Amino acid sequence: MLASTSLQANDLFKNADVVAGKKLINAHCINCHASSFGGDGSEIYTRELRKIKTPSGLVAQVRNCNTMLDLKWFEEDEVNVAAYLNQQYYHFK
Ligand code: HEC
Repeated sequence: MLASTSLQANDLFKNADVVAGKKLINAHCINCHASSFGGDGSEIYTRELRKIKTPSGLVAQVRNCNTMLDLKWFEEDEVNVAAYLNQQYYHFK
């Protein structure tokens, strides 16, 4: 279901737990972004040439990072993290 590119953020993130997502991303993801981009690392999501253009693209990127880092998150965790990033930075509808 998450593979569909036509899903809207409202559907994709409907049952997500953004608080859980925030905890996960703070624990595992921010340090590296902050060391490459400075500050709190959030510029990576708001830079002009950011790569993510769709809600499902956002989930896919979170999944790639999860796999790359071998964090062994569940799909639910990936969706929670993506939902948090969407709420804070991407604002996809
Ligand atoms: C080892 C360093 C490192 C870690 C750890 C890391 N990232 Fe990243 N991340 C990057 C770099 C570098 C980029 C930019 C890649 C590019 O521009 O091609 C990036 C890009 C992203 C983007 C895309 C930003 C955009 O819109 O262009 C997202 C979303 C993201 N990371 C999420 C995560 C998540 C979630 C985690 C934790 C599971 C994570 N990252 C962990 C280095 C890291």
